[in-house]
Amino acid sequence: ATIYLKDYTPPAYLVDDVHLTFALAPEATRVRSTIRFRPNPEAAGRDFFLHGEELTLISASIDGTPVTPEVTPEGLTCAVPDAPFTWESEVEIAPARNTALEGLYMSNGMYCTQCEAEGFRKITYYPDRPDVMATFTVRVESDLPVMLSNGNPGDSGPGFAEWHDPWPKPAYLFALVAGELVNHPDRFTTASGKEVELNIWVRPGDEDKCAFGMDALKRSMKWDEDVYGREYDLDIFNIVAVDDFNMGAMENKGLNVFNSSCVLASPETSTDMNFERIEAIIAHEYFHNWTGNRITCRDWFQLCLKEGLTVFRDSQFTADMRSEPVKRITDVIALRARQFREDNGPLAHPVRPESFQEINNFYTATVYEKGAEVIGMLKRLVGDEGYATALDLYFERHDGQACTIEDWLKVFEDSTGRDLTQFKRWYSQAGTPRLKVDESYADGTLTLTFTQETPPTPGQPDKLAQVIPVAVGLLGPNGDEVQPTTLLEVTEAEQSFTFTGLAAKPVPSILRGFSAPVILQRETDNAERAFLLANDTDAFNKWEAGRALARDVLLRMLNEGTRPDPAFLGALSSALADDSLDPAFRALVLALPSEDDLAQAQVDAGRVPDPQAIHEARQRMFDAMADTLHDQLAEAYEVYQVPGDYTPGAQHTAARALTNVALSLLSRRDGGKLAQAQYDSADNMTQQLSALSSLLIAGAGDAALAAFEQQWKHDRLVMDKWFSLQITHAKPAEVAEVTDRLTQHPDFSMKNPNRFRAVFGALAMTPAGFHHASGAGYRLMADWLIQLDALNPQTTARMCSAFETWRRYDADRQQMITDELRRIAARPGLSRDTGEMVGRILG
Ligand code: ARG
Ligand code: ZN
Repeated sequence: ATIYLKDYTPPAYLVDDVHLTFALAPEATRVRSTIRFRPNPEAAGRDFFLHGEELTLISASIDGTPVTPEVTPEGLTCAVPDAPFTWESEVEIAPARNTALEGLYMSNGMYCTQCEAEGFRKITYYPDRPDVMATFTVRVESDLPVMLSNGNPGDSGPGFAEWHDPWPKPAYLFALVAGELVNHPDRFTTASGKEVELNIWVRPGDEDKCAFGMDALKRSMKWDEDVYGREYDLDIFNIVAVDDFNMGAMENKGLNVFNSSCVLASPETSTDMNFERIEAIIAHEYFHNWTGNRITCRDWFQLCLKEGLTVFRDSQFTADMRSEPVKRITDVIALRARQFREDNGPLAHPVRPESFQEINNFYTATVYEKGAEVIGMLKRLVGDEGYATALDLYFERHDGQACTIEDWLKVFEDSTGRDLTQFKRWYSQAGTPRLKVDESYADGTLTLTFTQETPPTPGQPDKLAQVIPVAVGLLGPNGDEVQPTTLLEVTEAEQSFTFTGLAAKPVPSILRGFSAPVILQRETDNAERAFLLANDTDAFNKWEAGRALARDVLLRMLNEGTRPDPAFLGALSSALADDSLDPAFRALVLALPSEDDLAQAQVDAGRVPDPQAIHEARQRMFDAMADTLHDQLAEAYEVYQVPGDYTPGAQHTAARALTNVALSLLSRRDGGKLAQAQYDSADNMTQQLSALSSLLIAGAGDAALAAFEQQWKHDRLVMDKWFSLQITHAKPAEVAEVTDRLTQHPDFSMKNPNRFRAVFGALAMTPAGFHHASGAGYRLMADWLIQLDALNPQTTARMCSAFETWRRYDADRQQMITDELRRIAARPGLSRDTGEMVGRILG
């Protein structure tokens, strides 16, 4: 059944408080609930409905009198008083048999929960919707040494622990964890002097991987006080690491639960990228305490209210902790790879969707990342001060409420006086706007004429003009900046802006900082791109110019059979030689557009992409870079080696990024000699894994792969890297075979989402292999998605997006992919999650 935003109605009954008692047992956990309900004066109807799925109802009563509710697979109804009353029930559930990892489940002998979005209904009968907020008191009974829930600790003793959360919250923020866990403790004193106990709870053996996460947590707490004026509001903040988890992490009130891959870090086992991601996710979940928990969503259509804002906040945090331009560039690379791809295909949907079958399918790049871009645009339009004032009003006006996007925008309208009617289209209109710019120059005046157009998306054939903030600067012919960054507001389908008093025809730098999530189309040539790469003062556009140049050169190699362009190689050489540039920036300039990027670029140019040809063109370009830049790369490799002990900070990370790009190129020409030396001497995972990857590029990685496995077979997170790397580095014709072989490895498991993603996520991210003309990649993926769906619908459904680009390809591939999708769809008992995804992808 499809659920629509327009059908929202307020809940018939509200909840004052909830008391839960859990008697934990793997096969038969008993959950007793005492819930005080009262009629909602705002509601029209008086139908009493409690969600509940896969529960065995043992007993129920109202105000102490036993009742026999009418039970369906979705929940129960019951006659209730039209006045406040107390509902009591007892249900039985089997966490050990819960392979969907939603609700209460077990991971390595430890009990844990995942309730967002609608998992609480698998724990007990409840109005499981975010606009029902209540205080929770929880008692956990078991023999396990550690028993945690939300809020502050209450009584505890042998066999039990009690918790009380004074802050009203929706059920999706409920959490419970119990197991043989050890903690990494610390403290934080808030700005107003409140002492907070901090813990990261892990399985014994992982204690030495908590220090970085703890440090990131304290920095997040301080940053939210300094930048947003937000203090923590409980006596304790717990984080738990769980090995089996469908997503990255979850912001449960006072008890964040993390996929262990998103919190455990040590120099020996984690790469620089892992450290940066862990820091960002710790911050993200912590920031949810205000943007998500204290102010939550009225219904799940409003998901971007908390996710877009919290992603925006965690990007600001990372930019402050590390390099702002590098963070912006890497965010845009990810946005284009995931969100633009989504927006351009059958799964396109608005930042605030208007309907869904399964809400778990809408935790998407569009809701999260485009949702964050929309906030970035809003901030640019109202200015930093306007944004700060609006956020203060948001927290003041809506604390304790379950809100909508209308509430959010009203805050900005009231505090800045700006009419956001047109801006609101960013929340309702799917698709990536194409922004075309034409320029003309005469008599010291430059005219920029913009035309915007958003292509049709499923269910939205016609599009209206968006408000597009376009940051523009102008460079003079010598490369000096003659017009610093200024903001143009494009609001019409076609609109012109002029710059007067110019001494000479300038080179415009448009969409600086990627000021709007649009596709900029501008007639230009590679000389001008090289000029901007050399001279632009805006770091993002400087990189963007190099990226456009690389894309153009690669497309000409593909379409015209040209050889790697010497002018492009010269531009790379100049960038690499510029010691004034951040080494991380130079590493980004040396990274070519991905195979998937190039496939989309082919489509945009009206061609049918050939994954194999794209792969080969990129390899030829890398070879040419290895030859032409050899001496410079060898020098950079020496000069930027980081001496001394490993630290995960931005500076060392940047230096390693550059030396390891250099290594990967040099390894194409030295048979893997340098990479083997680095492999043998590496004392941290960044260096070890880069060396292994470069050895595989050199075709000399077999011994190192075996040694790596021996060294790390006890460490699940490190072994995930070992699984992935073999697939992403296999020859296209062998990718499916390698993937298949790895599924037969004794350490492959379908039950662990990280391991499944390490293998099949890698297959999906290796286009020349996944889309190999044999169709073997498609078949293998479908075979395993069918198997996984019976165990874990959420992870299966997410991975279906591997097929979302099928319309790009030739008729044979289209036929093979749609055959596989239909084979999945035809599976008896297919989950709602996967059914919805496959249906939408097929269109
Ligand atoms: N709210 C979590 C986060 O972004 C994500 C949880 C999503 N879980 C899910 N099953 N859809 O931090
Ligand atoms: Zn989030």
